[in-house]
Amino acid sequence: MIVALNNKCNLNKNEFISYLKELENINTNHEMILCPSFLNIALFNNESNIKLAAQNVSENLNGAHTGEVSAEQLKSFDVEYCIIGHSERRKDQKEANEEIANKMERLIEEGIIPILCVGETKEERENSKEKEIIKQELEIAFSKINYEDTKKVIIAYEPIWSIGTGIIPTNEQINDIFKFIKDNYPENKVLYGGSANENNIETLKECKDIDGYLLGGLSLKPSKLSEFVNKM
Ligand code: 13P
Repeated sequence: MIVALNNKCNLNKNEFISYLKELENINTNHEMILCPSFLNIALFNNESNIKLAAQNVSENLNGAHTGEVSAEQLKSFDVEYCIIGHSERRKDQKEANEEIANKMERLIEEGIIPILCVGETKEERENSKEKEIIKQELEIAFSKINYEDTKKVIIAYEPIWSIGTGIIPTNEQINDIFKFIKDNYPENKVLYGGSANENNIETLKECKDIDGYLLGGLSLKPSKLSEFVNKM
């Protein structure tokens, strides 16, 4: 299974260097994908089997785009995966589905595997709009790449009301969404993200469609992360 670690905007230079050593000591056969911040990507020194990912990419090619980081630049740092469409960026940077589609295209061009985040807000869930939202997020994100390339994409279902809240959906809710995604995209790996931790993994792992996890808070705590992967 996949264990993707989204550090978000955390860990300064020295913290990241010691964190990486602790991470390398975690003994697991699961596929670990580390998503550090851009600066820490430059510090990543792969002594283990951990794969390198970015948390974002520019929708543009190299050029006059101040403050942006291109897919080509990521590739030159051996980045193999990249998160796109994270709900925090959709909200804080006002990223729209169309921009995410451009990012998807840039990544595919460079042979970087996109990890596409989708998921509904609490309000959308309360109004039974979750599938409509997820369908739209997926369709637009995939609109600029060909069918063969869509199969390479890792989809991460992250209900926004679950991120950082300590609340996870019921297994019934997870199974319902995973079935919906997999009915439409049967070839794609699908991850679960949102408050997954070493305590609730026993419950989450009963959901047989989950191909792995996208971890935020837990990614920063190597000893608890180790417990989590052992229980997986
Ligand atoms: P938490 O695990 O902290 O809820 O974050 C999930 C997430 O947003 C991963 O991308």
